[in-house]
Amino acid sequence: MVEEEKDNSLVETSKASPKMYTLADVLEHTKNDSCWIVIHDKVYDVTKFLDEHPGGEEVLLEQAGGDSTEGFEDVGHSTDAREMMKEYFIGELVEEDRKNTKDTGPKPWATESTSTEK
Ligand code: HEM
Repeated sequence: MVEEEKDNSLVETSKASPKMYTLADVLEHTKNDSCWIVIHDKVYDVTKFLDEHPGGEEVLLEQAGGDSTEGFEDVGHSTDAREMMKEYFIGELVEEDRKNTKDTGPKPWATESTSTEK
């Protein structure tokens, strides 16, 4: 069963300025008791997600502490996956550690596959 999302005031901080991290900060979280990854210069704490990731915890742990943009985009993650990410967003990389990769959104075929026409 999928856990219902409980509204536990987990912040609507999109307007507030995000927390800033360096790659060195991220590198301190490479284990399954604390696992951070970087996608498009954004930092995600996926510790709680390791068990739930449809692609398995191994791929996440492999990328932990570093930039996983390429791996993430190669898979062609769906719109759903991109929605889920927001839950794990904890901050952004400081300017000097950014790669400035462009987030081009889900691949067309990844979006289509999840839409169930009513
Ligand atoms: C917070 C970040 C991530 C989230 C929320 C996430 C979520 C998901 C979801 C929902 C799926 C199922 C397919 C889909 O809906 O697209 C999936 C599949 C997959 N993910 Fe991720 N993912 C994340 C990061 C990553 C990263 C960094 C990698 C590898 C570098 C990765 C590798 C994979 C692979 C290989 C699959 C395919 C599994 C299969 O089809 O058998 N994911 N992910």
